[in-house]
Amino acid sequence: MKTLLRNWLPNNVKQQIRHLFTAVDEYQLILLSFLFARFPRSATWLYSLVNRDFMREQQAVLSGRLAYRKQEGIQAVSSALLRRNIHRLEKGLCMQPRRNVFATDFILATVECFATCMNNKHIEASELKWALDVLSAYFDAVTHVENIAQANAIFIAIDKSVIAGQSDPKHSFVPYQHKSIIDTDITTASLRDLCIRRRSVRWFTDKAVADDQLNEAISIALLAPSACNRQPFRFHVCNDQQLAPDIARLAGGTAGFADNIPCVITIVGDLSAYPMSRDRHVIYIDAALAAMQLMLALETLGLSSCPINWPDIDVPEQKMADRLRLTDFERPVMLVAIGYADPHGMIPYSQKKSINVIRTDVI
Ligand SMILES: Cc1cc2nc3c(=O)[nH]c(=O)nc-3n(C[C@H](O)[C@H](O)[C@H](O)COP(=O)(O)O)c2cc1C
Repeated sequence: MKTLLRNWLPNNVKQQIRHLFTAVDEYQLILLSFLFARFPRSATWLYSLVNRDFMREQQAVLSGRLAYRKQEGIQAVSSALLRRNIHRLEKGLCMQPRRNVFATDFILATVECFATCMNNKHIEASELKWALDVLSAYFDAVTHVENIAQANAIFIAIDKSVIAGQSDPKHSFVPYQHKSIIDTDITTASLRDLCIRRRSVRWFTDKAVADDQLNEAISIALLAPSACNRQPFRFHVCNDQQLAPDIARLAGGTAGFADNIPCVITIVGDLSAYPMSRDRHVIYIDAALAAMQLMLALETLGLSSCPINWPDIDVPEQKMADRLRLTDFERPVMLVAIGYADPHGMIPYSQKKSINVIRTDVI
């Protein structure tokens, strides 16, 4: 219906309608600021009564929390609950000074989750090995007070044969000292050069993107930090010159250059990784950190990229959800257009702010 009207209405009428919507939005803003001065919860009222901007996000957060409960913290091939708790155990093992007794409030839940994951053939073997190695190190390190002893008894009884082949004692997935981290010959100057070289590129040659290069870059992106090491996202890769423009076109920000994008990755956050709504922003933060590493890695491989905004708008949201077969609790965070830069393609100068403008010293 909307598309029909869009094609049928004359331009001046469409412009007047747009002005009307802008005016309504302006009045809402005025009303909001007026109410704000009097009632602290006015923004929530206004957004729930007259504005649907946050509706989908609220629904996604809620359905993510429900899915977390239903799936017992497991998301198909990985468990956010296991990852978070194993991460917490590792922090305890690294603590200075290390305590003889810690994690008493969650060790039982962790071992039970580990047992469930060991029975789930979809969970990645290296995730299970990490959990097994850290749990073994934990039980070796702590004093077996009541509930730790109880958790240890359950842990010992778990059948670990599924990952027996993975348990190389010389390569244990447990905390290690900083001095054993590999050295790097990357200098500050070379990192700066890489960052200067990376530009948002919108014009690409028609050379197909090598899939092994994509995998290399994605594997580097996956080394990015994430809150409690959950890595709550998936990369939906469309490396097909015929299909990629259709996906890129779903984002308004590609107008005029979508057709020449040979490859696009949609980074999708998974809200079923969180039992509580207070963590609803983490998917965006974690996905963005991984996206940055992806783009720098692509650059070292001779590929260029452009991050593409994914605003929360009804029609494209639905189209993307249909195209990628997303659940209610999976949210596209951003798109990344990828290809070999057209050497004659233009790049905006994009002046960067100076340190004076962005640095605030807290004293
Ligand atoms: C989250 C995000 C969303 C962006 N969305 C778009 C977009 O929709 N369309 C576009 O052409 N560029 C987009 N960009 C690219 C920015 O315009 C670009 O990063 C900025 O102008 C700075 O230029 P540079 O990346 O070359 O340093 C986006 C960048 C980011 C980080």
